[in-house]
Amino acid sequence: MSHNLNQDKLLKTPSPSFSVDEVNEIANELYGISGTISMLGSERDQNFHLVTATGDQFLIKIANSSENPAIIDMQLKAMEYISKVDSDLPVPKVLLSKSGSAIEEVEAKDGRKHPVRVVTYLPGVSPRNDYVSNLLFRQMGLILARMTRALSGFFHPIANYELMWDLKHTAKLRDYLAFITNAEHHELVSYFLDRFDRNVFPEIPKLRAQIVHNDLVPDNILVAKDDPNQIIGIIDFGDLTHTLQVIDLATTIAATLNETTDPVAVAAQIVAGYNELIPLEEAELRLLYDLVGARLTMLNVIASWRVTIHPENQDYITGGVDQTWRILEMWRDRDPEMVAKKFFRVCGFWEHKAVEQRKDQSGKEIDSLLSRRERLLGPCAYLFYNRPLHIVRGEGVWLYDDEGNRYLDVYNNVPQVGHCHPHVVNAIAQQARLLNTSTRYLHRLILELAERITDRLPEPLSVCMFVCTGSEANELAWCMAKLVSGNTGALITKFSYHGSTGATAQFSTESIPEGNLPSHIQTLFAPTSDSTYRKPDSGIRDAIMALNENGHQPAMLILDTSFVSDGIYTPPKGYLKTLFAETRTAGGLCIADEVQGGFGRFGTHFWGFEFDDVIPDIVTMGKPMGNGHPIAAVVTRPEIAETLANQTGYFNTFGGNPVSCAAGLAVLNVIEKEALQHNALEVGQYLKGGLHELQKDYSLIGPIHGSGLLLGIDIIGPDRKPIPGIADRIMNHMRENGVLIGITGQHSQILKIRPPLVFEKQHADLLLTALRNALDEL
Ligand SMILES: Cc1ncc(COP(=O)(O)O)c(C=O)c1O
Repeated sequence: MSHNLNQDKLLKTPSPSFSVDEVNEIANELYGISGTISMLGSERDQNFHLVTATGDQFLIKIANSSENPAIIDMQLKAMEYISKVDSDLPVPKVLLSKSGSAIEEVEAKDGRKHPVRVVTYLPGVSPRNDYVSNLLFRQMGLILARMTRALSGFFHPIANYELMWDLKHTAKLRDYLAFITNAEHHELVSYFLDRFDRNVFPEIPKLRAQIVHNDLVPDNILVAKDDPNQIIGIIDFGDLTHTLQVIDLATTIAATLNETTDPVAVAAQIVAGYNELIPLEEAELRLLYDLVGARLTMLNVIASWRVTIHPENQDYITGGVDQTWRILEMWRDRDPEMVAKKFFRVCGFWEHKAVEQRKDQSGKEIDSLLSRRERLLGPCAYLFYNRPLHIVRGEGVWLYDDEGNRYLDVYNNVPQVGHCHPHVVNAIAQQARLLNTSTRYLHRLILELAERITDRLPEPLSVCMFVCTGSEANELAWCMAKLVSGNTGALITKFSYHGSTGATAQFSTESIPEGNLPSHIQTLFAPTSDSTYRKPDSGIRDAIMALNENGHQPAMLILDTSFVSDGIYTPPKGYLKTLFAETRTAGGLCIADEVQGGFGRFGTHFWGFEFDDVIPDIVTMGKPMGNGHPIAAVVTRPEIAETLANQTGYFNTFGGNPVSCAAGLAVLNVIEKEALQHNALEVGQYLKGGLHELQKDYSLIGPIHGSGLLLGIDIIGPDRKPIPGIADRIMNHMRENGVLIGITGQHSQILKIRPPLVFEKQHADLLLTALRNALDEL
């Protein structure tokens, strides 16, 4: 790993270790002052407080031996400069040594040389951590602007040195990401680093820059003992550098935020104070959200790195860091546009032109994508939501659009273990670098995956055939069922979906108008929450009779065991058993389509057919199997596979290729290692509980059904019947508020909840809040 910033050495070199007595001698010899000396805290230097017999107070600073004396020279000259141009600004005064120098040098016992300087020690006290005062926040903004104005004519040749704490260099923090071991923190930091790269970096050359204090934070100001709103001292010029004015402002804001006060309100006060003296430009205000995020990110990243260098200094370095992570989370939860809007307001820009313009640009891109898509992909490629989303990145349960806005994904079951799970991504990449071929060669991975899948299924389901999509899996199952049974009919539920190929499209009653079903297909009732449908046989006998009348016997019964298109239901005990028995009596095979619900989503079971005491003849699976990589499978008994081989054979060019198998294995590993089935159970129950609570307040919420992290919520009217359109409005309202769900059911009346299985209780809370808001505002 390369650490690019020149502070590495400085931060790695141990602090000087002069004793109080030695410092007394130094003060006397070099500066002609003496008195009572006490040591103050410092991370990389040594600071001493000296009080003379006459009551004068000084700060003696012995710098780290790696400190560049030119930088110290700049700091001292800046203080002198400020005193000349704004003598009321309360900054320390430089004490010259007996020989007339602002900087002296002292040698430590170990022979290292340290620059030393003395400045006046300012009176006053640090503001209390828990002190919340709009007046103080405003004063901080104002005094920062005064400092900037005072320094506006100041120059020093070393001013463009590369300071780690200068937010211009935020992008370099990526070199330190390996030191962040907490996955959520990693995600948080990446979010702000991405935003910085995209939004801030290209704008840097266009913004106002000069030498600024760059560390005017609560720890570096002193307020009057009897008036906590009056700033009477500004100390620590250690981060003085040439950078953007708005970076200086963001640095102050970030350090002033606390956990208990609305961060945007605090920031707005500081902005307003600053703007009183130095009117901010629109372009600066637009970047402030990202710069504050970048500063908080920087504090966290550097602290994570530095504890690894100075574990002995852990408390000093990480003091308050947990809080900083939480503040960064709070900041991330703010809508960047709303924050910018607030800043625009306090600075008197009533027209939020800049943001509107950006929105307009993004809007224009979406329009262009839409028209190209319509032309190139045709009218079947419809999009979700009234305002389609342009998603460019995913991570865990989050999706990010082209403007960096994030959305909670409560819809997608394909990224079963979370969007772009690193374990799966690595497995795919590694295997793709090594080999990808068809299955006409021996390969270990395909066998491992087949073993891992069949281990999860009951005997005698022991043969696994790999394909690429759920549709292909069901098509193959259908072929097998016809060959083995010698029959030609199919039994499906009333509003099902089983695929898009020639045969499976006909099993997808979801998109076939009633009455248009081919004569070899008959439907039965899914186990909906409407008790009238829970007939013992769900109408299967009538369905089989109807097939007979059309000259067919059932070759198969195929059931999506999660009944997602029908409305998301879990089969009650006896449902599958009855249907399987009736089908087998009529000579058909029973197929569990686990494409939707399989792989642990139900929480209680790994597969949906396990809700009942049945063993299917064939199990099909797909969607979540590769976490987004196209892989699907058909598992059956050896004699069924034998029949297929003897009669037609089967080959699928891409099915079971090593890369797909690597993905499939990685998904199973993650499900097991991260206990995601258990998580689905626990978080699913928690979410269901929350939904039942919500149900008490909103009569629109009807039955809630499903299991684990696969839930359906009926939206009903006063007569308890579905009301068309309302579920759609709720879904779109939630989308506008950053939560993505879907709808399903015959009347599109059911909210569909089907998130990646890394969904946590905190995400369930966000979902519940967004749903409540939608119901309130409909
Ligand atoms: C239950 C079920 N079976 C099969 C399929 C078809 O899978 P694919 O889209 O991968 O072909 C789907 C797709 O949504 C499905 O929900």
